[in-house]
Amino acid sequence: MSKITIAIDGYSSCGKSTLAKALAGKLGYAYVDSGAMYRSVTLHALRQGIIKDHGFIAEQIIKILPEINLSFKFNPGTGSSETFLNGENVEKELRHMIVSENVSKVSAIHEVRVKMIAIQRELGKNKGIVMDGRDIGTNVFPDAELKLFMTADPDIRTQRRYDEMLAKGQHPTFLDVKKNLLDRDYEDTHRKENPLTQAEDAIVLDNTELNREQQLEYVMKLITDLTLSVN
Ligand code: DC
Repeated sequence: MSKITIAIDGYSSCGKSTLAKALAGKLGYAYVDSGAMYRSVTLHALRQGIIKDHGFIAEQIIKILPEINLSFKFNPGTGSSETFLNGENVEKELRHMIVSENVSKVSAIHEVRVKMIAIQRELGKNKGIVMDGRDIGTNVFPDAELKLFMTADPDIRTQRRYDEMLAKGQHPTFLDVKKNLLDRDYEDTHRKENPLTQAEDAIVLDNTELNREQQLEYVMKLITDLTLSVN
């Protein structure tokens, strides 16, 4: 069976990475979380003191881009790929609220996108990859054989993200988590460059009422049908 490219886009906290990870595990494909790349740039800018009080000068972020080196390593213990920023495993820090609150604005900078998209295309050049994000099916891999556009009820999404953060020892309020999701959805769908939109050939997956297993089963069936038809 020849390998395909699977692009998963959608709103914040729709379970894109959960699905992408599970698919990659089942298919023996690589999994790439493109949001982690934009989060890494944001984290680096925060650490350098370039982002202050939720504001920054874009030129200063553009200036530090050459010092950002990203790599990804599969962790067999967690079954997922982890992000390394200049050699340091930052997987945990990337999910902190302060990163979430600034990442949409950082990801709207043209030069940031150019650098991240080049890395993403390089990682996917041999297919056999599942990548999730906001512009994967529309821009990074417009020829992906399978494109999914994920959505779910905002309260369900908030609850899932809130539970995940509590489990990680963070203590946000439900309302702060919800506000962050909705703010990011707005910014990600309204930015000038590569906004989040549904690709014309994407299959919409609303998982409000689906559990992880049902969702995985549904998509695996799509993949089987697809690979049977292309092979
Ligand atoms: O998937 P995530 O929530 O970790 O992504 C964090 C942010 O990164 C998201 O709010 C917008 C940006 N992003 C993007 O602009 N393009 C992508 N392909 C992936 C993420």
